[in-house]
Amino acid sequence: MNQIKIFCPATVANLSCGFDVLGLCLEGIGDEMIIRKSEQKGLRITKITGADLPLETKKNVAGVAGMALLHHLDLAFGFDLEIHKKIKAGSGIGSSSASAAGIVVGINEILGNPLSRKELIPFAMEGEFLASGSYHADNVAPAILGGFTLVRGYNPLEVIKINSPKELFVTILHPQIEVKTSASRKVLPKEISLKSAISQWGNLGGFISGLYTEDYSLLGRCLHDEVAEPERKKFIPNFDEVKTVALENGALGCGISGSGPSIFALCKGVKIAEKVANNIRKVYSETGIEFTVFISKVSDSGVIKI
Ligand code: HSE
Repeated sequence: MNQIKIFCPATVANLSCGFDVLGLCLEGIGDEMIIRKSEQKGLRITKITGADLPLETKKNVAGVAGMALLHHLDLAFGFDLEIHKKIKAGSGIGSSSASAAGIVVGINEILGNPLSRKELIPFAMEGEFLASGSYHADNVAPAILGGFTLVRGYNPLEVIKINSPKELFVTILHPQIEVKTSASRKVLPKEISLKSAISQWGNLGGFISGLYTEDYSLLGRCLHDEVAEPERKKFIPNFDEVKTVALENGALGCGISGSGPSIFALCKGVKIAEKVANNIRKVYSETGIEFTVFISKVSDSGVIKI
């Protein structure tokens, strides 16, 4: 294979109770990439559409992730890359991770998959580090593996793919403002109380159990965030109103998607997801801020060839 075209999905990280460890892969929203084998060693970004991002490899998230993989593989040839961005930077639905995940999966596919998908995650994390100043895998892991993923540990890295309940839908509100992950990490508490920690790990354990047993009500009871949401919601106009409306209209739970500003609501069934979407639209149109609302299933595929 000399060339591949791929779809690089958007993701929701944290999911309230799993800061930096939990994430899910969205369906139908994502970037596209074309990767071509080249006789010249290294990785060159030849074209970017849809966003004003650097073409210079070492300043580009996909460039850095791709180069980390190429350094490991030590090939006698290289690759040219076209990036077609559909996910806005600073949206909270994993724009940088889509790029980082896409390039490593794409190169690996062209080469006939010398590495497993899980083995690709550390290389994609190099791209996340460039974007946010932090090595986290809660967006790149679901973008690469699909479904729900849990980072059991970072040192050494251990990622577990978890069952996705069949009737689960995600409603996303994306206010068209940019929140940089680096900025929203600066407001995080350096320490949390034992009481908050107990509540957080109880909820995370319960959430994982709920995913396997497909216990929707349990999932809803676990969607609380005592770590990031209290500080980060200040960056998101009308966050509390949106959350109230989502819960009043039947969402299982609602919180900040990744580092924001997008807000996610998990819902049982498409009808409730649509009802939540319609009512969120109503409250948000009163803010004067441009926004989009969409509904997605949890995608089981991660990055795919198109
Ligand atoms: N876990 C990360 C954060 C996700 O919340 O900062 C954003 O990339």
